[in-house]
Amino acid sequence: MNREEALNSIKANVENANLIKHMLATEAIMRALAKRFGEDEAEWGITGLLHDIDVELTEGDMNSHSKLGADLARELGASETMAHAILAHNERHGVSLDTRLDRALFCADPLTGLITAATLVRPDKKLAGLEAKSVRKKFKEKSFAAGASREQIAMCSELGLELDEFIGLGVEAMQGIAADLGL
Ligand SMILES: [Fe+2]
Repeated sequence: MNREEALNSIKANVENANLIKHMLATEAIMRALAKRFGEDEAEWGITGLLHDIDVELTEGDMNSHSKLGADLARELGASETMAHAILAHNERHGVSLDTRLDRALFCADPLTGLITAATLVRPDKKLAGLEAKSVRKKFKEKSFAAGASREQIAMCSELGLELDEFIGLGVEAMQGIAADLGL
């Protein structure tokens, strides 16, 4: 499966524009992480792109979310490694994070939400001028974008990344696709 096929499938299964943007942001961060670790950027990017493909289809049923997503990814031709990362990103299933890809997706997912929220409180609501250090400050404010699990983001340490580097990498990755994100 190539990126275009993955994106077409997302557009066929997801209506919510913000959800699609979340998946694009996750893709961008996953590509940057793959580059950082010398891993396969296409594989990691597509895993990020597809990870929430089933959110609307599963209608809030967290016991189905990511199981269906992993199945859909497999049908599209994703490898078992990619499908496992998608399955494991929903903690509900109790699936362990075994690979670097699993861990990368797990901590990249909530970072997109924190960065988006930190952008939207800026006067210009633009990613361009956002500095990693202001995202770091927001990280410490527990009530800010509380849905973006700090614990999950901090799991970047299991990838061997310091939080500051991870946030910086995430901001830069999302700035690179700011137009697609409308930010
Ligand atoms: Fe997600």
